[in-house]
Amino acid sequence: MEKIQQAARIIASSSDVLVFSGAGVSAESGIPTFRGEGGLWERYPTNIYANLPGLAGVFLLSKDRIASFFSDALRPLVEAKPNPAHEALARLEEAGKISAIVTQNIDDLHLAAGSREVLEVHGSAYRVRCSRCGAREGRSRKDINDVLDKLDVPTISRRQMISALNEFSGNCLCGGRYRPDVVFFGESLPMETIEEAADRASRCDCLLSVGTSVLVYPAATVPAIAASFGASVIDINPCETTLSSTADVFVKMKAGKAMPAIADEVLRLSN
Ligand code: OAD
Repeated sequence: MEKIQQAARIIASSSDVLVFSGAGVSAESGIPTFRGEGGLWERYPTNIYANLPGLAGVFLLSKDRIASFFSDALRPLVEAKPNPAHEALARLEEAGKISAIVTQNIDDLHLAAGSREVLEVHGSAYRVRCSRCGAREGRSRKDINDVLDKLDVPTISRRQMISALNEFSGNCLCGGRYRPDVVFFGESLPMETIEEAADRASRCDCLLSVGTSVLVYPAATVPAIAASFGASVIDINPCETTLSSTADVFVKMKAGKAMPAIADEVLRLSN
């Protein structure tokens, strides 16, 4: 409990707290993380599944494998609900104790929990983006479920799969094709969003990292920028990360347990 209190004291006495979140914050909502035991990338290697040319290759070799990847990656997302960690972060924002969340997650669980300032540096599963003009359009949980249901039919042909995926994506008014608005390996991050994240990182006086291995760049420069500008760093994770040893406080706990306790203590100290 000492670590919870230390973290809460830092947050309560800071004037600009920026959160950096990753897959671990959604783990207790039932969404598997990427790395580690049972992680998505353990079952689906990144050199094949985390990039579009690799996915196109798998599609040609085994359409069933592509359907199972989409299902394993997306079903948990559309079924998930915010957990106590998301809710605690939303409470802290509402109380003016955190300024924004920079998230690497493509689930919408911070927004669903009520957080408003959310910078999605790896995009969102719930949007498509025009490959020609960059316009974005929303897609619902039902849209994603419907396409997954079609892909899951064992007798589906490759042609039917392509048409189901095209129907989901759709065409932009400019005539360009929509694609998922998520960042695959080797692709650029959305420029405005990552610039705003870097700017906020350079201005914050506390960086609260929750549920991320802090291994994937350029997103992982966000905590590095904050630390280099003198911000206090708090790391919340049941396992050590690249930040833990240099953080001002390392709370070695699951986010769903640590964050509500920290939020309660911050709000108590601030009243
Ligand atoms: P990782 O899978 O690399 O790391 C998840 C982190 O969450 C690990 O450090 C776990 O120890 C921690 N964790 C697990 N359960 C937790 C819990 N209940 N509470 C708190 N922490 C917990 O996921 P990210 O760091 O988010 O990018 O990975 C970053 C990026 O790598 C992702 O956005 C994705 C991936 O490849 C792209 O695909 C572009």
